[in-house]
Amino acid sequence: MKTFLKTGLGAAALLVAMQGGAMAQGQLNLYCSVQVEWCQAIAANFEKASGVKVNMTQTGSGETLAKLQAEKSNPKADVWFGGTGDPHLIAAEEGLTTEYSSPAMKDLHDWAQNQYASSKKRSIGVYSGAVGFGFNKELLAKKKVAEPKSWADLLKPEYKGEIQVANPNSSGTAYIVIATLVQIMGEDQAFEYMKKLHANINAYTRSGTGPIKAVARGETGVSISFVHDAVTEANAGFPVGYATPSEGTGFEIGSLSIVAGARNMDQAKKFYDWALTPDAQKLGYEVGKQLQMPSNRNAPLPPNAPDLTKIKLINYDFVKYGKSAERRRLLAKWDAEIGALPK
Ligand code: F6P
Repeated sequence: MKTFLKTGLGAAALLVAMQGGAMAQGQLNLYCSVQVEWCQAIAANFEKASGVKVNMTQTGSGETLAKLQAEKSNPKADVWFGGTGDPHLIAAEEGLTTEYSSPAMKDLHDWAQNQYASSKKRSIGVYSGAVGFGFNKELLAKKKVAEPKSWADLLKPEYKGEIQVANPNSSGTAYIVIATLVQIMGEDQAFEYMKKLHANINAYTRSGTGPIKAVARGETGVSISFVHDAVTEANAGFPVGYATPSEGTGFEIGSLSIVAGARNMDQAKKFYDWALTPDAQKLGYEVGKQLQMPSNRNAPLPPNAPDLTKIKLINYDFVKYGKSAERRRLLAKWDAEIGALPK
């Protein structure tokens, strides 16, 4: 009896110690705004590397910002990985995210560190990519429509009902498109342009990658998308090509931020440091053939990734377009002048 009690108690103590060990690593609530395969890999690999249990939710950049705003007094997330940089800057300005300085910062490209400076230490760049056009080469050839090369081309009548772009309220990609057009053309002309473009648009999708997936499946001829997402579809065997506008184009600093008032702050910091390592930054390509440019200088550029140095990029004003009031104003104007137009 004595021995039984001893062994029984010993086993129970061991079990408690083991559970305590696993529990000591804790958990992490992750909001993730890249494609879902990448989000899943980020969650699984961080769990493996740290022992922290990850609860992941994937939504687009604008949608995630709206969730953080709604949860401000009772935050449910600890960390926000990925998505375009402007909503991360807005979250920073609105006090939805918190300051953090990672020791990994010294290994990052300047553009990634610029996001840290613009956000007053509340966000950092994890990847970058440029806006352009994706198109279905077979569909355009069949319809005898030329591949678009410029913003001006997209207004041509031959593209009537042929173009898709996302809705800028939910999608960070589409917000960058508006900000890019305003910076290239001036605000009045950019809105005139978008009104004309509306005649050629067949749908404003919720997610920024929706239009390029529709191009790949042959449901639409042309999309306004990040060009890295066009190459991902081409690598998967779809007849997809891409071009970047001859007038110039905008780009994203895909970002990472820690939520203010995070319940699992230590785990959030651990995740943040890990997500900036070359090993973590390789995952997007390894699992989902994602082709953004990684922010860690020591992370390899994925094969066939669009070379940003060969694209005519505008001097995108992240500070101005990452301001809460400016985004709200532009979105309200888009809703009233473009989104409300009959289809
Ligand atoms: O993961 C693909 C991607 O294009 C990212 O490069 C980008 O940050 C994100 O999607 C934007 O998604 P959305 O436009 O839906 O916010």
